[in-house]
Amino acid sequence: MKKVLITGINTGIGLGLAKHLLQEGYFLIGCVRKSEYFDLLIAEFRDFKNQYALYAFDLKSDFTDKLQEIEKNHGVPEVIINNSGIFLTDTGDFDSVYNNIINSLEVNLKAPMRICEYFAAKMRSLPWGRIVNISSRMGSLGDNTSGGYLSYRSSKALLNMYTINLAHQMADTNIVVLTMHPGWVKTRMGGMVAPDEIGTSVERIAFALTEEAREFHGEFLVGKEKLPW
Ligand SMILES: NC(=O)c1ccc[n+]([C@@H]2O[C@H](COP(=O)([O-])OP(=O)(O)OC[C@H]3O[C@@H](n4cnc5c(N)ncnc54)[C@H](OP(=O)(O)O)[C@@H]3O)[C@@H](O)[C@H]2O)c1
Repeated sequence: MKKVLITGINTGIGLGLAKHLLQEGYFLIGCVRKSEYFDLLIAEFRDFKNQYALYAFDLKSDFTDKLQEIEKNHGVPEVIINNSGIFLTDTGDFDSVYNNIINSLEVNLKAPMRICEYFAAKMRSLPWGRIVNISSRMGSLGDNTSGGYLSYRSSKALLNMYTINLAHQMADTNIVVLTMHPGWVKTRMGGMVAPDEIGTSVERIAFALTEEAREFHGEFLVGKEKLPW
């Protein structure tokens, strides 16, 4: 059974992905901020007993010990989906906007980097694998036609840069590395006016796990459509 590590599975796109990949037969290594979410998740995953394990840690902390525990318990996962993210509102003066950039980087860049850096070298010898960083079209320089949202945009732009660097580093392996936009999705972050359902975003991200995705290694995608950097 292939193992998939996903962050932020208590809600939104992460929960949708977790349920979909359990149905697809993956063993889920589900990561959330707080163990208080476990009861809810145990109820959500009642049909998939023995097919998942839950871990609680704050992505803003140094959670290397949790990654060591995950590796000790499950070995190296074939799939990593860095889904968790934060969107901060940039109002106020220079210092508060700059602080938002720093705080956004903690969750949107440093945490996915920490997970990738911990596992990427260990994944090199796997016969098949995927590393998917959930970014946003708002992190695209080429697609930035309206400005604003500096902290979120910057953090996702840097996540994109990190991901393409990692893709180069992993180019001689069987691991496909992608950065993906899920769409504008009805979640706590996307709001209820968002046009896309969680199921649609899950379908788009699940493309990364197909064999066809290999030819898109190192790309910035929504589904199989390439986005401008
Ligand atoms: N929704 C959209 O329209 C949209 C568009 C483009 C990109 N995205 C990206 O898609 C991903 C998922 O978004 P979503 O819409 O599902 O967002 P969401 O509903 O707000 O969920 C975000 C997830 O990230 C977790 N998280 C945030 N900070 C954390 C921390 N410090 N430690 C541990 N977990 C933390 C949250 O945990 P808590 O519940 O404990 O806070 C939650 O599980 C994000 O990377 C987002 O940037 C979303």
